[in-house]
Amino acid sequence: MPDLSTTLHQLSLKNPVMTASGTFGYGKEFSDFIDLASLGGIIVKATTSEPREGNPYPRMAETASGMLNSVGLQNKGLDYFVKHIYPELQQINTHIIANVSGSTIEGYVEVAEKMAGLDHITAIELNISCPNVKQGGMAFGTSVTSALEVTRAVRKVYPKTLIVKLSPNVTSIVDIARAVADGGADVLSLINTLLAMAIDAEKRRPVLSTVTGGLSGPAVKPVALRMVWQVSKAVKLPVIGIGGICNATDAIEFFLAGASAIQVGTANFINPRVTTDIIKGIEDYLLRHNLQTVRELVGSI
Ligand code: SIN
Repeated sequence: MPDLSTTLHQLSLKNPVMTASGTFGYGKEFSDFIDLASLGGIIVKATTSEPREGNPYPRMAETASGMLNSVGLQNKGLDYFVKHIYPELQQINTHIIANVSGSTIEGYVEVAEKMAGLDHITAIELNISCPNVKQGGMAFGTSVTSALEVTRAVRKVYPKTLIVKLSPNVTSIVDIARAVADGGADVLSLINTLLAMAIDAEKRRPVLSTVTGGLSGPAVKPVALRMVWQVSKAVKLPVIGIGGICNATDAIEFFLAGASAIQVGTANFINPRVTTDIIKGIEDYLLRHNLQTVRELVGSI
């Protein structure tokens, strides 16, 4: 059988298929459908220092080849995560990666520092790219100075693998990627959602309560591929590709563009078994192309 294993800084993954934050809950929601241990890793729903109720409904909308969300980082906060969610995550035998979000640098640092002490959380993904909050989120990821500053502050308190999730809502993703690398990131994940909107023509108003939201799904894949390709050529850090991946062919395209691993997001809402289908499909592709390892594909276009 071909070797699907890959590495992301200090993380050895059994395969390169992970789930994107906010699309897979805390894992157990999907345990009736798939063996969670078969995944390369699970990036769990965002955690902020304080509880957040999220944005008012409606905060999701279907669009052509995609969807919009404006959830607003709803979660029960850091203390609840440590007390009630972490014990359950310890039962899952794969990499569990916390998505760390915030509205201030101090907030990010507080969450990262706490996550560092949790043995079963093997890495964090610093979310500087959420487009749905009034303070923080994407504001950090769309300025070179703020991206550097928040990454550097978190790096000081977080010794394990630090992944930073980039926003596509910028003129030059390479400039932001370089800033984050200078700030001490170990791995880059991209892309988060594209700022977008939907309008209900009959009601003559925006569909989402927040007017704008983040676009994900197959519609964004070409944008994500382009950005993964640009960043992986410019920055010497491993890249995780995210954006509209629905099947093994999509995943392979991201490896060819330079991604060492991928995250599946919106497709989990359509088919809860899509991740295991993708793992099997990658194996089949490697066999068909007489390749021994998935690593041979990375950046090979
Ligand atoms: C949200 O909670 O609004 C989405 C999270 C994100 O885009 O990072």
